[in-house]
Amino acid sequence: MNRPLVVGNWKMNGGPAGSLQLARQIVRQLKSQPARADLVLAPPFTSLASVVQALRHSTVKVAAQNSHWAESGAFTGEVSAPMLEEIGCHYVILGHSERRHVFHESCGMIARKLAPVLVHGMRPILCVGETSSERRRKRTLQVVTAQLDSALKGLAKGVIDKVEIAYEPVWAIGTGQNATAEQVDEVHSSIRAYLKSWLGNAKGRVVRILYGGSVKPENASTLAEITEVNGFLVGGASLDAESFLAIARAFSAPAK
Ligand code: PGA
Repeated sequence: MNRPLVVGNWKMNGGPAGSLQLARQIVRQLKSQPARADLVLAPPFTSLASVVQALRHSTVKVAAQNSHWAESGAFTGEVSAPMLEEIGCHYVILGHSERRHVFHESCGMIARKLAPVLVHGMRPILCVGETSSERRRKRTLQVVTAQLDSALKGLAKGVIDKVEIAYEPVWAIGTGQNATAEQVDEVHSSIRAYLKSWLGNAKGRVVRILYGGSVKPENASTLAEITEVNGFLVGGASLDAESFLAIARAFSAPAK
């Protein structure tokens, strides 16, 4: 069984002082009631270094919300994988729907970002997911498969177990409307089948598939019971220590 992974994506919320406070609250509450999941916090860039420092004696790890494909150079406003490695990041979220749809990152751009993250010893959290119009046109599985193909097929098969995949339907992000258990089950099973057919059963089984999109303490247990849900990528609800940990504890049930 894969150990669950629960990631809090703080997006563009909070400066270093607020981020530190939230990270410390999470660590404090975890001590009194541990979670049976790997926990990762993704603060904004300006808070990363101080949150890494604050978490250095804890099991909670830190993710960046994006990185550039180049090591350095004339890319105003960007941050590279070696810079994130240097400050002690462990994960990088790539291809989040806000990057794809608000900042027009193409599949090609996202594909170029994975290898540098891996080369610098971090784990990419690759986000995939369809828009509402793609779902209405019954193109969900096609869209998700194409996004996986373009991001993963350029990588060596030997490193795929370092990649985390997050299925995040665009229409469910920040809307309060999570995908139903049937919808999540269908897409996660199809991603698992894709991984197994490409990598073989053993290797295809170890990649974690997270769900993201309006995950809340109220719906986390139902979603966590779905066989191929190996964790969550949480936005809004991760900005509150108690609700983030309540979501993480949805995985405290006996192994599936
Ligand atoms: P949400 O965001 O939980 O606020 O819907 C999820 C995400 O963007 O990763």
